[in-house]
Amino acid sequence: MASTSVFSPSFGNQPSKIVGRTTELREFEESLAQEPGSRDRAMLLIGQRGIGKTALLLEMKARAAKAGFVAVKVTEGPSMLAEIIDLIQLELNDKPRGEHERVHTKDSRLSGFGFSIMGSGINVSFTHKNKQAVGFRVALSQLCDILADQRLGVLLLIDEIQPNSEEMRMLAKTYQELIGESKNIAIGMAGLPSTMSHILNEKTLTFLNRARQIKLGPISIQSVETYYSSVFKQLGYHLSDAQISLLARATRGYPYLLQLIGYNIVNEINGESAVSNDSLEEIISASVDELADTTFAPALAPLSSKDLEILGAIATVSHNGKAKVSDTLSALHIENGEFQPYRKRLLDHGVISSPRTGELVFTIPYLAEYLQAELS
Ligand SMILES: Nc1ncnc2c1ncn2[C@@H]1O[C@H](COP(=O)(O)OP(=O)(O)O)[C@@H](O)[C@H]1O
Ligand SMILES: [Mg+2]
Repeated sequence: MASTSVFSPSFGNQPSKIVGRTTELREFEESLAQEPGSRDRAMLLIGQRGIGKTALLLEMKARAAKAGFVAVKVTEGPSMLAEIIDLIQLELNDKPRGEHERVHTKDSRLSGFGFSIMGSGINVSFTHKNKQAVGFRVALSQLCDILADQRLGVLLLIDEIQPNSEEMRMLAKTYQELIGESKNIAIGMAGLPSTMSHILNEKTLTFLNRARQIKLGPISIQSVETYYSSVFKQLGYHLSDAQISLLARATRGYPYLLQLIGYNIVNEINGESAVSNDSLEEIISASVDELADTTFAPALAPLSSKDLEILGAIATVSHNGKAKVSDTLSALHIENGEFQPYRKRLLDHGVISSPRTGELVFTIPYLAEYLQAELS
């Protein structure tokens, strides 16, 4: 295994291996096996930057292909709808001929299409003029039909969904119409908690409220430990079980940090001889420092200065990323009623969660410690 390609701390890339997420992926595969139109076939992944939304969408794309779906992934933006149509056609044209031998073409369906079976594959294309004429809804509907003839479904994967988007409204409307026509279609979407709380309030996007919402949390420390253990062994590192466990716990199950710590270990130490715990601690701490720019800053950017003040107070009274509401109120010298709107805003932004009454938990690892250090 080449050490340089194993860990890649960045955003939007496909990891060399998906660690954890077994439940999410099993549920996803089960949802594809359900009847077209099933509510579970619309999935919404919600989570902070670096928690692994894009990586999960990419893995869903790969698994869907094996389950008989043509899957396309786009990032939301003005050209999203045209891209969806283009990408489905590309996927279709890339299919080897063998998979399409039982294609039945129905000419009536193909009006507005250029359709031909060429050499090694099937060639379906809308000319630019046709694309405008038939529109997104009709184009997608026709592609669904062509694929259905080959017993293939369509999976749309939309990353980084945004509030107030005309494209998303059009997509939602089309998806619902195609479901109404029993097309074999499914959709997976991903977005940040802060944008999601806006989007879920949009009346035209009620289908998102009906979609299965999956709040992505950290992956289990155990799965990180298993992964690190096998990877570092393959790379020839001499790390003890206790050291592997130390590294795994330091990631707190946050996929970006899993990549970052792994990457820094490979870059900073020569694992052929024994490594001291001090060197590992140093690498962990340098990795955590890197989170300030890549993770904390973008997560805090949408918050008002008052929100930040409240969040700072929660951080100050927190231990291991957990704080009691009662301690927070005392620190802020305010009553619960006054605190509630801020609590809601921070929950909506996804920077804290409240798994139990009276308790607040930081959702981004090391953010509480970072704020404590900033405020001290
Ligand atoms: N389950 C996972 N196992 C291993 N690495 C992961 C996993 N999920 C994400 N990553 C890696 O973590 C980093 C951040 O993930 P990404 O999917 O870009 O997060 P998000 O889209 O939520 O901001 C990327 O380098 C990605 O490859
Ligand atoms: Mg992403």
